[in-house]
Amino acid sequence: MEQSPNKILCGKTLSQQVLTDVTYQVAEFVNIGQRVPSLAVVLVGDNPASQVYVRNKKNACHKVGINSLEFLLPDTTSQSELLKIINQLNNDVNVDGILVQLPLPKHLDSKLIIDSILPNKDVDGFHRYNMGSLALKDPNICPCTPHGVMYMLDSIKLDLAGKHVVILGASNIVGRPMALELINRDATVTICNSKSKNVPELVGLADILVVAIGNPNFVRGEWIKEGCVVIDVGINRLESGKLCGDIDYESAYHRASYITPVPGGVGPMTIAMLLKNTIHCYQLNIKEKSTV
Ligand code: GUN
Repeated sequence: MEQSPNKILCGKTLSQQVLTDVTYQVAEFVNIGQRVPSLAVVLVGDNPASQVYVRNKKNACHKVGINSLEFLLPDTTSQSELLKIINQLNNDVNVDGILVQLPLPKHLDSKLIIDSILPNKDVDGFHRYNMGSLALKDPNICPCTPHGVMYMLDSIKLDLAGKHVVILGASNIVGRPMALELINRDATVTICNSKSKNVPELVGLADILVVAIGNPNFVRGEWIKEGCVVIDVGINRLESGKLCGDIDYESAYHRASYITPVPGGVGPMTIAMLLKNTIHCYQLNIKEKSTV
């Protein structure tokens, strides 16, 4: 792929465009006499990384005028207590989106909890209905991080058809929905997991590389094909306190036609897509109410 004079795919800048659009949309809803969209965020326990993510999500809602409701629950919360809260939020006509921050404490069944959220309020797109819809190329609500990556790829006007995309990491949050998004755009997709063999060779075949494994600086620049579009989803904190991705940025930069930085790359896009999804849920919620 062609070299760009500015090859850094800046999530900070791109997400700003989305935030501006969402701000206008919210103002327009209010203008026409509708209520403000509302997102409920549920955090169980005191995982420090989750606390930071939840705070960032709340601040982003505030910036664009979306109402955010926070449920900070102790890690002793039982499954039935959590299900009861979700049920109340499902039935609250003024709540448009429900987000349960993952990972949940071990005693809670994440699959069951996620599937208890109404599909049209599932802003994360993790419910089996939403994942299934994406798999059937009939998407309803799409997981935020892969959707943010698609937004970044579209910003450089890449024709994805026939491109070989190699994804490292097969999680439900990133790797799997990422593969589905790309398959839906006619890309050729290879997904690697921790058991995959010859990972450096597979990486070397990629026109586009997406890495989401949570392993600091795992991918070396030497593995990467010249001109590859390099997307780093990892956010790792080193002992020094510095943040880094799953790809060794310095060495990858020289090979890449485009590359995402960490921080300021995919992270801000995830939050931007969450706000977009909240608007999507709001529109579904408003439509449902007007048809009953
Ligand atoms: N944990 C890590 N990423 C995410 C995310 O996008 N949504 C939720 N709910 N939990 C997460």
